[in-house]
Formats: sequence, C-alpha cells, structure tokens
Amino acid sequence: MVSPLDRLSYAARQTARVAWYAGHYAAGRRLMKPMPKPDFAIGPTPGRAELTAEMRALFQREWRDIAAGLFPVPRALDAEPGEILRRSLRYFRDLPQVDARRHGQLDDELPPGTQADGLPDYYRQNFHFQSDGWLSEHSAAIYDTQVEVLFTGAADVMRRRAMRPVAEWLAGRNQRDLRGLDVACGTGRLLAFLHDAWPGLRLTGVDLSPPYLAEARRLIGRTARVKLVEGAAEALPFDDASLDLVVSSFLMHELPTEIRTKALAEMARVLKPDGLVVIVDSLQKGDRPEWDGLLDLFPHYFHEPYYAEYVGSSLEEGAAAAGLRPAATENAFLSKVTSFKR
Ligand SMILES: C[S@@+](CC[C@H](N)C(=O)[O-])C[C@H]1O[C@@H](n2cnc3c(N)ncnc32)[C@H](O)[C@@H]1O
Repeated sequence: MVSPLDRLSYAARQTARVAWYAGHYAAGRRLMKPMPKPDFAIGPTPGRAELTAEMRALFQREWRDIAAGLFPVPRALDAEPGEILRRSLRYFRDLPQVDARRHGQLDDELPPGTQADGLPDYYRQNFHFQSDGWLSEHSAAIYDTQVEVLFTGAADVMRRRAMRPVAEWLAGRNQRDLRGLDVACGTGRLLAFLHDAWPGLRLTGVDLSPPYLAEARRLIGRTARVKLVEGAAEALPFDDASLDLVVSSFLMHELPTEIRTKALAEMARVLKPDGLVVIVDSLQKGDRPEWDGLLDLFPHYFHEPYYAEYVGSSLEEGAAAAGLRPAATENAFLSKVTSFKR
C-alpha cells in the first residue's frame, strides 16, 4: 500500500534526478565543441516540450504501476550524495577525451592492457566515444552517469518498464522457484531493481566486461540470489530450456545483425516453454514515426556502429525468426519494451 507521502517522495526524487542530469547535459553542450550538422536527410524530430511531456508521462505510468501494487517503489540506487558527486566529477574530467574522439572520429582505439584479449572485434570499440570502450574500471565507473546524462535522468525508468511485464507474468508463480537472466547486465541496474522487487528470484547477470560486472557486484552487494558471470550473449552459458525469465536492456543496438540474430536465438534456446523474455532497447524506425529523425541523429553524435542497422530492422521479426512471439509492447520515451513468449 503506498501513501500520498510515498508519491510525493517518488515525484521529488525523479524531479531532482531529471534536473541533475539535464544540468549535466546543458553543461556538456557548453563544454564540448559543436559537431558539424549532418549532411544526410533526417526524419521528423520532436520538440523539447514534447520530449519533456513524454518523459513525465513515463514517470506517471510507472507510478500507476507502483500504486497498483505491481512492484514496490524503486530504491534510490545511488543514494549517497558523495558518490554521485564523485562520479559526476569523473564524468566531467573525461569529457574532453570524449569530445576529442567525437571530432577526430577516433573510434577504434584499443583499451589499455591485455584484458580484452580474446574478445570479439565488434566489441573492442569505443562505443559512444567513451574512454576504454567497455574495458576498464574507469569506463564502468562513469557509464551510468553518461547514460543518465544522455537520457536526462530517464534511463533507469526506461529500464524499469521491463518490470511491468515481469510482474504480470509472475502473478500466480512462486518467485522462489524461478531462475532469471539479464543478458549484458552491464553495471547491474536492472538486475538490482529486479532483485529489490522480487528478492526470491534466482538471478544471473551475464556480460563480456569484467569491470562492468565488478561494478554490478558493488551495486547489488553480496547475495547468493544474484550471480554475475562473464559470457557472451551469442553463446549463453546455460542449458536449453533452463531459465524462466530472460531480460536485456540496451544491448540489441550494440550488436551487429549477425550477432544480434544469434543472441535472440540464444535467449529462445535457454528459455523454458512457459518462460518470458523482456527486451528494453531503442525505439526502431516506425515505432513512433514522428520521432524517426532522432534515430537518424543519434549515431551521428555518438559512436554507435550498429545503431542504424538496428533501428532500421524489426526486433519483433528478429525475435520471431528465433521462435519468440511478442506478448506486449510499450513505447517508453526513447525506448521500446517488448516482451516475448516461446
Ligand atoms: C549499453 S550497455 C547496456 C548495459 C545494461 N544492460 C544497461 O541497461 O545499461 C551494453 C553492455 O553490453 C555488454 N555487451 C556488449 N556486447 C555483448 C555481448 N556480445 N555479450 C555480452 N555482453 C555484451 C557490454 O559489455 C555492456 O556492458
């Protein structure tokens, strides 16, 4: 049961979060050199007021689900102000390197050290022009700030929209009997939200990046209920039909088509017949046609080598080819949350 005070505190927290990261976004624009305008045709784009209204509507939808008892009020994962500040400072100190990469189009630097040995070539890149790609403690420490700045404080709520289909699917099931997987869990935020909401679930996060997995462990804490495993989405280290739930946030657009096809096939392979897959990723072309221009612009401003091919394809068709059929879809601000059954 939630009280008016809970609602007020939720609203205050989200507003503060949006203001904080929108402030970072505005400061970043002043600190970085403007990028040349794209020299290709772009589709229609929404204005700022429309984007803000959509973001607000997303928070309201989440609140309605919380008030309906689908899942509890989410914990503030970065509750410690000193920690938030330290990460922001680190983010701003790194910004000149990101900017230099943006303008020099340096997108193939290899990360320092040898830890990346054996990792696939498509993976060894400076995605988003970020320092060290996915492959350092530094990158893992500032990733969440980078993503929240990009989405002006709405990244976590987009991830958490995966919780609605999970909650509906869980009704009538005993969470203690169920095993779930987050494919490419990164720094573990979706896993942390799932674990907080349903602590009985036995969860595993798989990711190719040891530093991101270490960050996820720090965030989630020591618990036998959440395992973190180094592994690839296209070769999941699980038996056929061994998992009840598979979730994945913001992975699909980072993969070349061939690997994405394999990753979807792997999700279908490891899922039990009555299981659920929930994927949160970018909107694709046509999901919200009047915003298609944003999808054209994004890879121009951020190094996203596979984004254009992802948004030009259909996740639903890719999943169907893997044997997954869509069960529900929600456009969640700049993301689409799609759940699938076998
Ligand atoms: C954009 S981040 C998304 C992370 C997280 N799910 C989130 O919501 O922020 C992409 C993550 O995918 C991981 N990754 C990329 N390709 C992968 C692959 N083939 N297999 C496993 N992890 C992969 C990266 O290491 C990184 O942690």
